Amino acid sequence: TSGRVVVVGSFNVDHVWSLPALPRPGETLAGTYHTGPGGKGFNQAIAAVRAGAPTRFVCALGEDAGGQLARALAAGDGLELHDLRSDRPTGTAGIYVDADGRNSIVIGAGANAELSPAWVEAQADALDAARVVLSQLETPAESACAAFAHGRRAGAVTLLNPAPADAVASDALWALADVITPNETEFCAQLRRRTGVELDPDALAGLDDAVLHGHCRALLAHGSVVVTLGKAGCFVSHADGALRGDAQAYYRCPAAAVHAVDTTGAGDAFNGALAAALARDPAAPFERHIAYASRYAGLSTERPGAAAAMPRDAEVRARFG
Ligand code: RIB
Ligand code: NA
Repeated sequence: TSGRVVVVGSFNVDHVWSLPALPRPGETLAGTYHTGPGGKGFNQAIAAVRAGAPTRFVCALGEDAGGQLARALAAGDGLELHDLRSDRPTGTAGIYVDADGRNSIVIGAGANAELSPAWVEAQADALDAARVVLSQLETPAESACAAFAHGRRAGAVTLLNPAPADAVASDALWALADVITPNETEFCAQLRRRTGVELDPDALAGLDDAVLHGHCRALLAHGSVVVTLGKAGCFVSHADGALRGDAQAYYRCPAAAVHAVDTTGAGDAFNGALAAALARDPAAPFERHIAYASRYAGLSTERPGAAAAMPRDAEVRARFG
C-alpha cells in the first residue's frame, strides 16, 4: 500500500571520527571511529516512520554493502524503500567531530547523484496518496521538483529542507515548496543567494521577531518558513493568508530540555517528525506539529549516530507527555 509521507533523498554510509580538534592540512590525528547509516533523506525517512507515519523512501543505491545495509535497515523499520540501482557506489559521508561537538562533513554523493525524475515518477502510486512530500538538497533538484509537482497535484503539502547550506536550490524547486525548514546557516546562505541580504548565522536567534519574520517573507513570499535554531528552538513565519491553522503569523517554539551527546541528524529528526505529524493530523494547528518535532529532535540528540538515533513516537510521548 502507499505511504502517507514520501521522502525523496539521499542515503549515505556515515564514517565518523571523534577527535579532540578538527584536523589541519598535513596533520595526522588519532580518533575513535564508528560507522552507521545516514544521509539526510534516509535519516528523515526513518524519523517519519518511527514517528508513526507510513512512509516511502525514494532513493538511489549502489550494488554494494552500503546498498544492502539501507535495504535491510528499512525492512527492519517498516520503511518502504524504493531504490534505483546505480552502478556507482552507495553514498558516503566522512564526519569529524571535535570535543566541542562541532563537525566537518565531506560527502561522496555516488549513487545519490543518479536519483532521477523518471524514478520519482515511477512512484506515482505513493505520490497520489501522499499527504506530505519531503526532500532535501543532497540529491538532484529535478527529482525533488518532480515529486513536489506530483504531490501538489494530489493535494499533498511539500516540505523542503534546504540542506546542506552550500547546495543551490533551483527557482523551480523553491516555487514548489509550501514549507522550508533551514537551520541558521542554511537560512543565511539562501537569503544571501536569493536577496543579497547578508546576516550572521550566530546572530539570527537574537534578532527581533518582526525583523526575522520580514527576512523569512523575503526568502519565501508564498509559503511558511521554519528556521531551526539549535538550543534556541525554532522560529515559524507564515505567508499572509496561509496560517496553517495557527493564530499568529509568526512565533517561536523553545527547544526541548535535553542532555545532548550527538547532534548529528537533529535537523533530520525535526524534518521527519514534522512530516509525520502533518500527515497524521493535517487539520491540527501547525504549532502543535512544530512542538512535536522539537521534542522529537531533542530526544534524538541524546543518542549517538544519525538514523540510528531516531526515537519512536511512544518514546517521545513517554519522555515529554
Ligand atoms: O544531516 C546529517 C547527515 O548529513 C549525515 O547522516 C551525513 O550522511 C550527511 O548527509
Ligand atoms: Na544523535
